[in-house]
Amino acid sequence: MFKINDNYLKLPGSYLFSTIGKKVAAFQEANPDKNIIRLGIGDVTQPLAPAIIEALHKSVDEMGKAETFRGYAPDLGYEFLRSTIAENDYKKRGADISADEIFVSDGAKSDSGNIGDIFSVDNKIAVCDPVYPVYVDTNAMAGRTGDYIADEQRWSNVIYMPCTAATNFAPELPKETPDIIYLCFPNNPTGSTINKAELQRWVDYANKVGAVIIYDAAYEAYVSEPDVPHTIYECEGARTCAIELRSFSKNAGFTGLRLGFTVIPKDLKSNGVMLHSLWARRHGTKFNGAPYIVQRAGEAVYSEAGRKQTAEQIAYYMNNAKVIREGLASAGYTVSGGVNAPYIWLKTPDNMTSWEFFDYLLEKANVVGTPGSGFGPSGEGYFRLTAFGSYENTVKAIDRIKAL
Ligand SMILES: Cc1ncc(COP(=O)(O)O)c(C=O)c1O
Repeated sequence: MFKINDNYLKLPGSYLFSTIGKKVAAFQEANPDKNIIRLGIGDVTQPLAPAIIEALHKSVDEMGKAETFRGYAPDLGYEFLRSTIAENDYKKRGADISADEIFVSDGAKSDSGNIGDIFSVDNKIAVCDPVYPVYVDTNAMAGRTGDYIADEQRWSNVIYMPCTAATNFAPELPKETPDIIYLCFPNNPTGSTINKAELQRWVDYANKVGAVIIYDAAYEAYVSEPDVPHTIYECEGARTCAIELRSFSKNAGFTGLRLGFTVIPKDLKSNGVMLHSLWARRHGTKFNGAPYIVQRAGEAVYSEAGRKQTAEQIAYYMNNAKVIREGLASAGYTVSGGVNAPYIWLKTPDNMTSWEFFDYLLEKANVVGTPGSGFGPSGEGYFRLTAFGSYENTVKAIDRIKAL
């Protein structure tokens, strides 16, 4: 008789966004005349930039001719894309990362989940609380998190690092020593960042205790302040303790196209074994590469026109972030984020729970956001709004909230 991976059975309830979806659908059905504005899910709305579309058309045509047709991509991704990434995202920022330390993938969600394959199930993970749920759930599926304690909304074998107003929504070094530390800056969901000196403390700590940092920099393109690092490899010593995850989803609108990459420096070793070799083996065995046309589209993001056009899109979203942040602040809300990230994190008024505020906002303002408690216990009493809507809808949503 076959057996299932019963770690899956330990996973709690329904997924946050499906619960939100059901509530919104029920409200819309009961109130068909209401115009609902969605500032909940972190998906982009602007179309792909012209330089990217041009690269897609060109590479599609190449695929239609015998002389330029491409089959399977190289295991690590095409050299043209990896060297462009190494040059623009790393060398230009003074970070010592070479093209053959970059593994092209179909995005940061799969990489953040799959990276666990190369680590023993005995490792203890540390995560921020609140957190992007994928890190915890994929470790739970692998059997690394112990049992779920429903009353406390936490796993028995995970180190939680609370990120609260008291810590400026950044984690503090944990008291118990972890083996694998997940960090995400700029942060989803809180929109917070840490400066280079603060990130250096994490790198020094990881090197000291022999931990590995999995650094999710999916929102790197939204960094606007000069002392906020764009990559963990700006920090000294990161090559021996950090893996970086990157995505084309939010910097260039590839959420539907799918492209990302993971960086594993060759100096990152466990008892002399290079994690780079293990990930190369894993990548070569379980993944057959991102499509050629998508990798060409990714290359176009770094062209002069691509950089200019994607920067304009980011500026558009960040203007929305400003509208939300300043609008809510003027209405008396306590808000953070939205400066180096497309997420605004607000304290719910009158001690409402996150879900009470969700219902209140949906019913009274017809605006959808995301309850902070869905990202972890320390998110209770908070709420996330995203800047990825249209400018018009963003303004309308904030006007409605201000009028409550
Ligand atoms: C922190 C974080 N990492 C990764 C992802 C997923 O990125 P991708 O679209 O590249 O899979 C998201 C998407 O919302 C995210 O918020």
